[in-house]
Amino acid sequence: MAIDLVDGTRNALLLWRDSLEYLSTLGRRFPVGGTYFFGPYQSNFATGPELVQKVLVDHADDFHKFPMMEYLRPLIGNGLLLNEDAPWRRQRKLVAPSLQPRRVAGYATMMVDYARQTVEGWQDGAEIDLAASMMALTLRIVGKTLFDTELSGHAGAIANALEVSLAFVNQRGKSLFPVPLTWPLPGNRRYRRAVAAVDGVVRAMIAERRASGVDHGDLLSALLAARDEDGQPMDDTQLRDECMTLVLAGHETTANALMWTLSLLWRHPEVRARVEREVDGALAGRAPTLDDLPRLPYTLQVLKESLRLYPPAYVMGRMALRDLDLGEIKPRKGQFVIISPYAMHRNPAVFADPERFDPERFAPEAEKRLPRGAYLPFGGGPRICVGNHFALMEAHLILAVIAQRARLDLVAGALPVPEPTVTLRPRGTVRARVSARAPAGG
Ligand code: HEM
Repeated sequence: MAIDLVDGTRNALLLWRDSLEYLSTLGRRFPVGGTYFFGPYQSNFATGPELVQKVLVDHADDFHKFPMMEYLRPLIGNGLLLNEDAPWRRQRKLVAPSLQPRRVAGYATMMVDYARQTVEGWQDGAEIDLAASMMALTLRIVGKTLFDTELSGHAGAIANALEVSLAFVNQRGKSLFPVPLTWPLPGNRRYRRAVAAVDGVVRAMIAERRASGVDHGDLLSALLAARDEDGQPMDDTQLRDECMTLVLAGHETTANALMWTLSLLWRHPEVRARVEREVDGALAGRAPTLDDLPRLPYTLQVLKESLRLYPPAYVMGRMALRDLDLGEIKPRKGQFVIISPYAMHRNPAVFADPERFDPERFAPEAEKRLPRGAYLPFGGGPRICVGNHFALMEAHLILAVIAQRARLDLVAGALPVPEPTVTLRPRGTVRARVSARAPAGG
């Protein structure tokens, strides 16, 4: 398959047919960056670390986000993910402190408890749906972190709304002919109903919390207490939008990261055995704590290498606010710049033999040699993932719990096929057979 620099219709069809292959092809075609046509529009692709740094960091203020996630707006409103300019800066300052390493440390024990409960629910020899299991675990964790509640319980509307909404957004995202949300179509109506249900639940939780004034030590309490430079709190709509954004951005990404990591470990038994040895040696049979994480460096290397090969946020987009000259690309006002961590992480000039799974790439000395901007699973610049510490801590702890107590072998006999939707999901279900491991010490 070849990208044609001027045939925009052909390029749009290629994207529709296989968007991952399309992004990889663009990455190979433009090892640094370049310009091509997409439909009737001229578009830009940035791959080289220096150029990507220019877009995400040096010229961050010259761009808005690519409006490809507009279908999410009814669900997440003006939360951090879709907000821009001064309102975004204000919100980022209000939300980010609650997700700093010091603050998220307090959630570690709960993450481990929930992970243990998940593994304890797996019978030795049973077959599980690995992707669904990780999704349920990370949704439970984000629910407890945000609202100090079980999202599967009375707030089940949130889980349901997310499922309906993501299915809708994924399906619309692939559509060649965007249909306005205002049209009275069954899909549009289902989406609006799901959003209304979630609205009711989240607003009720906010009202209850405001009325009681009780500090639950969760994110909602922290967001309610946050004040901007003028001493002003967030209003209820902004709070609702931030909560929904954190639920949405914070669970499917991490679930997919875990699913890909566990699948890769199954594919590479020698790496899995080394992770198990590390976990057994560091934990001596007890559950991990936050303080154990520095003693589990190889487990983290595995996670980072998995995020290289299967970055859940596999594509990011920006729209130029003015005409720019960034060297290899010269985006004009209104034009898009596409950055794909999936394609960048396969650049052979940076990652030798890029398709090979090799956690040694993230051994401390090797990681230091990576050029700035070459490895971006969490994005970069001012809009870098606000939940990156949370996500890495969560995934590191969950992997340690699973490696300590179970071995998972995929039933299909092959790695899942990546399905590029809002995040990089597996296509279909991922069935895995469980072999229980007795937590070992030494
Ligand atoms: C492995 C897990 C995760 C990955 C790979 C990931 C990836 C990303 C990426 C690449 C961006 C930047 C998008 C862009 O610049 O266009 C982003 C933004 C964001 N992420 Fe994450 N994320 C993960 C987990 C989380 C978690 C756990 C949370 C919340 C608890 C979260 C909340 C957010 C928010 C709110 C933004 C928007 C930040 C802003 O624009 O100010 N993410 N994420």
